[in-house]
Amino acid sequence: MSVDRPRPLVAGNWKMNGVKSSAKVLTEIHAGYTPGLKAKVELAVCPPATLVSLLSYASVGSRVAIGAQDCHAKESGAFTGDLSAEMLADAGATYVIVGHSERRQYHKERDVEVCAKAVAAHRAGLTAIVCVGETREERESGKTLSVVRKQLRGSIPVDSNSRNLVVAYEPVWAIGTGLTPTVADVAEVHALIRDELRRLVGKADAPKVRILYGGSVKPSNAAELMAVENVNGALVGGASLVAADFLAIAGAYLG
Ligand code: 13P
Repeated sequence: MSVDRPRPLVAGNWKMNGVKSSAKVLTEIHAGYTPGLKAKVELAVCPPATLVSLLSYASVGSRVAIGAQDCHAKESGAFTGDLSAEMLADAGATYVIVGHSERRQYHKERDVEVCAKAVAAHRAGLTAIVCVGETREERESGKTLSVVRKQLRGSIPVDSNSRNLVVAYEPVWAIGTGLTPTVADVAEVHALIRDELRRLVGKADAPKVRILYGGSVKPSNAAELMAVENVNGALVGGASLVAADFLAIAGAYLG
C-alpha cells in the first residue's frame, strides 16, 4: 500500500428520508463501529438538513461525522428556504455534498453553481463532497471521460486540497437502479479523476484526496468496488438507511 493512500471514507446519503426516530439508525451505526473498523475507515452520515443538529449531538464522541446534502453559496440573506454552509457548520456538520446528480437534474444546478457551493463549504470550514458522473446516454455515446473531466474542471474550486475536498464519482444511471459499472470502467474514471486532481490541487496533494464511488453500492458488491485502484470509499444511498447494510459496506475494508 502506498504511503500516500488516504484513509477511506464511507458516507451515507440519506437523501429525503428520515425523521427524528431515524436517530436510532445512527445509534446502531455507532454500536457497530468497532475499534477494528475505526482503524480502517472513516464513516459519515448525511441526513436531511432537519436532522443535522440532532444527529450531530447524538454523534459527539463517536467519530461518525455528520454531513449535509446541499448548501447555498451565500453566507446569509434573502434566500427563502435555503441554508448556508455556515448554518450547517453551526448545526454540527463537517461535510456537505454538493453537485449531486439529483440537484443537477431537478434543480438545474450547473458546474458554476456547484463550484460556488463548494467555495461556500470551504469558507465555512466544511469538507465539500463534490459529485460528478455521466448519464446513460453520455456513457453509451462514449462521452463519459469528457463529461466527468468537464464537471471536475467546472465544479472544483481553486482553494481545494485533500482536507477540504472529497470527490464522488456517481454514474447517474447507476443511482438507485441496482446497476453498477464494471470494475474496469470504475478504474478508468477514477484514474481520470486522480489525473485531473494533479492539475487542480497539485501533484503532492492529489494522491491524498479521497475519491468515492457511488451508485448502487451494497454489501454484496462493496468489496469488489472498494478494491479498485483509486477508489477510496463509497457514497451510499439506499443501503445507508439500514445500519447493518451500511456497516457491512464499510466492513469491506476489514479485508
Ligand atoms: P444508491 O446507493 O441508492 O444507488 O444512491 C447513490 C447515491 O446517489 C448516493 O449519493
